[in-house]
Amino acid sequence: MRIVTYPHPALRHKSKPVRRVDKQLRQIVEEMFQLMYEANGVGLAANQVDLPLRLFVINLAASATEGEEQVFINPVISLPRGNEEQEEGCLSIPGVYAPVKRPETIHFSAYDLSGNEITGEFNGMLSRVVQHETDHLEGVLFVDRLSTSVSMELEAELADMAAGLESMQQQGHLPPDEEIRQRLTEWEQKYC
Ligand code: NI
Repeated sequence: MRIVTYPHPALRHKSKPVRRVDKQLRQIVEEMFQLMYEANGVGLAANQVDLPLRLFVINLAASATEGEEQVFINPVISLPRGNEEQEEGCLSIPGVYAPVKRPETIHFSAYDLSGNEITGEFNGMLSRVVQHETDHLEGVLFVDRLSTSVSMELEAELADMAAGLESMQQQGHLPPDEEIRQRLTEWEQKYC
């Protein structure tokens, strides 16, 4: 398992709800935390590791020995309020940081690995991170939410990343899009 980077097709996949949790899924979640810590991230969505599952992991401390590990399955955001601009980055778009406007406060609900429902009013960094990660599950990236001027500034960098991915596919280091989509469908048949 590894973190896939822009514009890998899995990042544009709209995840369907997870219907069951088994030992393998718990193992996947464990590995997602490890990959997230290795990359010094605070959140990681399943499609960032090429899995079409509607779940993400977060730890705002970005450390295996600090903070709180949270797993959110089938998240739903409602009642967005306020508007705040903050710089964001993404483990799937390394080296790119830009200001993104998002609602300040949200109502959030999801399930944990034991099937318990988690609900709450989130604000601050937690609100921002769960919005960023829930976007991932919809196939949306933070670079889709930039102002026109910032978006234009990043255009060349993103085009370079796209060219890099295409050449990896041509050299056989990454499967063709069709094969990637087929694999995602197989995972969906198992868990969604
Ligand atoms: Ni991200």
